[in-house]
Amino acid sequence: MFGRIDHVGVAVEDLDQAVVLYTERFGMTEQHRETVEEFGVEAVLLEVGEGHVELLEPLSEESAIGRFLARNGPGVHHVAYQTDDIDATLERVRTAGVEAIDEQPRTGIRGSRVAFLHPRSTGGVLTEIVEPAAH
Ligand code: CO
Repeated sequence: MFGRIDHVGVAVEDLDQAVVLYTERFGMTEQHRETVEEFGVEAVLLEVGEGHVELLEPLSEESAIGRFLARNGPGVHHVAYQTDDIDATLERVRTAGVEAIDEQPRTGIRGSRVAFLHPRSTGGVLTEIVEPAAH
């Protein structure tokens, strides 16, 4: 169903400060930075092996990440699995009884197509499936 872990999404209050931690202390490379209006975030992707860490700073307190930070503080927000065909994967997980938050894939970072699965049907883990724009 899933190819591999694509990234771990981390909610942060200060993106620049978080980037310093991951680049200078963990030695990762900042690969991409983008404002993703669809999700109300400013996001940075850092390379680690074949996967990524996705740092997410909310654009407003009302965004999903803004509400997450208010509730939980900074920390791990979601795990994302990669697929070559998000439409088929979304269909398959739904058929398997998993509740999707997104009925249809949305446009995520770097032109990817993404969909979120509800934590109440994934053992408490907000789960994203992602089809990269180019692979
Ligand atoms: Co993500």
